[in-house]
Amino acid sequence: MTRHFLRDDDITPSEQEEILKLALELKANPYSQKPFAGPKTVAVIFDKTSTRTRVSFAVGISDLGGVPLIIDSQGSQMGAKESVADTARVLDRQVAQIVWRTYAQAGLDEMAAFSKVPVINALSDEFHPCQLLADLLTIQEHKGKLAGLKLVYIGDGNNMANSYLLAGAMAGMHVVIVTPEKYSPASSIVAEAQEIALTTGGSVSVSHSSAQAVVGADVLATDTWVSMGQEAEKAQRVQDFAGFTIDSELLALAKPDAIVLHCLPAYRGYEISAEVLDGSQAVIWDQAENRLHAQKALMVWLDQRAK
Ligand code: CP
Repeated sequence: MTRHFLRDDDITPSEQEEILKLALELKANPYSQKPFAGPKTVAVIFDKTSTRTRVSFAVGISDLGGVPLIIDSQGSQMGAKESVADTARVLDRQVAQIVWRTYAQAGLDEMAAFSKVPVINALSDEFHPCQLLADLLTIQEHKGKLAGLKLVYIGDGNNMANSYLLAGAMAGMHVVIVTPEKYSPASSIVAEAQEIALTTGGSVSVSHSSAQAVVGADVLATDTWVSMGQEAEKAQRVQDFAGFTIDSELLALAKPDAIVLHCLPAYRGYEISAEVLDGSQAVIWDQAENRLHAQKALMVWLDQRAK
């Protein structure tokens, strides 16, 4: 049966471990696997802007012997003129995999329901699972392990928070999501993550106090306060998130060897200070590079199960 990667828990904890191991192997030997040799084409569709996702998928597909077909949805029939289901039926006869950055998770579910080839979520309003594979890979490289580490995400209870909850719990991490109260992550996702954590030895919790939450943290993470599509709310959000910046004072409360993640793009002076983002504890450039290695591993892994 064709496997898809629409949300972090579409794979099991042991499959997550397997993909991260493969990512490390591919990082060491970038051209060792050619599942798309032929070459086969992989469609990469963007309903939203992107730098990292666009580049890392294009380079990754090319490294794997394939041809990336980048489609900006404004220039295609998708959406108003043609349904997602019909788009899936057209694409799956011609491409090996479909990668899609979109708004509603329901669109990805529909694409996967009608596609005979793997569909990958390259960010939706609800999840950013490819980013989490890269983040876990980065933490593993810098800390030597994942299970048992305390990861504190400070910011909006958005798609990144949801993915940290699920993927972090799957990796056996202790995940704390810190938000202003009205920006808390969906309780259903917190409950799902708690269920997963029960099986992996991890834990998840939600807090509204950064200073308390970061004590003992191995990893601090954040994301923009104004995600794509929320631009009209910027002034209100900047006001609501005051006091939730990761700055040097806050970082000093975490473990001395804590590392700092940001999925980028970053807004210095808002969710993170310039001093921290550009400082020695930030591992953001490794994190950005690891999108490439993690996604290559994911594509290889999905290809092996699509046959
Ligand atoms: N982190 C991330 O997804 O970056 P892009 O929006 O540039 O793809």
